[in-house]
Amino acid sequence: MPYAHITGWGMSVPEQVLTNDDISKMVETNDAWIRERTGIQERHIARDNQFPSTLGVEASIKALKIANLRPTDLDLIICSTSSPEYIFPATACLIQDQLGATKAGAFDLSAACTGFIYALNMGAQAIRSGSIKSALVIGSETLSRFVNWKDRSTCILFGDGAGAFVLQASEQPGGVLSAVMHSDGSGSDLLTIAGGGSRHPSSESTVLDGKHYIQMDGNEVFRFATRVMASATEEVLVCAGLTIDQVQWIVPHQANIRIIKAAARGLKLPMERYIVNLEHYGNTSTASIPIAMVEAVEKGQIKPGEKLVMVGFGAGLTWGALAAEWTGPIPSKGHVRPEQYRFFARVRSVVRRALRFIEGLLYRREL
Ligand code: ACO
Repeated sequence: MPYAHITGWGMSVPEQVLTNDDISKMVETNDAWIRERTGIQERHIARDNQFPSTLGVEASIKALKIANLRPTDLDLIICSTSSPEYIFPATACLIQDQLGATKAGAFDLSAACTGFIYALNMGAQAIRSGSIKSALVIGSETLSRFVNWKDRSTCILFGDGAGAFVLQASEQPGGVLSAVMHSDGSGSDLLTIAGGGSRHPSSESTVLDGKHYIQMDGNEVFRFATRVMASATEEVLVCAGLTIDQVQWIVPHQANIRIIKAAARGLKLPMERYIVNLEHYGNTSTASIPIAMVEAVEKGQIKPGEKLVMVGFGAGLTWGALAAEWTGPIPSKGHVRPEQYRFFARVRSVVRRALRFIEGLLYRREL
């Protein structure tokens, strides 16, 4: 049975930074409160022309470059997002088109902030089963579009960004070692964007009621998160046959420093074993774990051969964890430049649209 190795990684965040002081000009809050209660100092916010696909493509190109893989080599693209560009088509298809990943199947996965763990596990399982050889797994969000900038209990938390991993099959042991995925829909009302779906289709009244905004019971979500972060970490280690001492790093969902500290206390681990960067990005939902991982790898914190646990929680409610051995790129010949494929991808996309148009005209004439 092949192993699923993480062979490429990349991240992208918008340039625009919103500090706590900026937010204190919009709602009654202040930098000291936000830092003390969340650990967040600033977050990145997408410009009007930046979407989950824009950030997702940028992160993916970096990941493909490190993996030395062409977009046309990809078998599967999974995009985990809670802020998809449309209800349908899937954001993964927009990314597939912009990358020119002509061979790849593509779908979105919705498991809120836990989504990247679910998606990585799905990609790894497809590789482990032998049905595919490579997968691109993306976590991408522009949740700022759903933030009520008058609600101080939520607007301080979220930021935009994307992270992407390339998974590849290898006969060498390592890569994704185990994963656990959990859900409890009885808590579905604790964190929602209620409007715009088929229960509350967008209308004047859904907008007047603010149903298009994130609504959250912060205290309940906080309690749930502190309960599950440590237990999911322990569970995934048992599945991998590892002890906590055999793991160098824990990469948690970056929601609130107090949640991470509570999880560390629960496992009796020093905070030095946790990868934390939420002070600069806030909660980027499903993108937070890959963004934290990419930064840690680029800083030289996470090194090939080290073992780690990614652990997250989110709306649904969902939670889960994934244990992995960090591989680094598989040595291969030649240097692929995936960014060059973007131009060809654009041309290809235009040509395919034109052909579809001509085909439509011919088909109509035949009828
Ligand atoms: N600035 C100043 N005061 C504030 C602010 C603010 N931004 N927000 C709330 N307060 C006030 C409250 O009104 C309250 O005042 P009161 O005592 O006079 O009533 C007081 O501060 C305490 O409020 P709490 O809600 O108890 O504050 P808490 O310390 O719990 O922090 C927070 C709130 C940060 C939202 C916390 O509950 C939290 O992080 N929860 C988890 C949220 C989370 O992780 N969500 C993402 C899940 S992932 C996903 O799927 C998207």
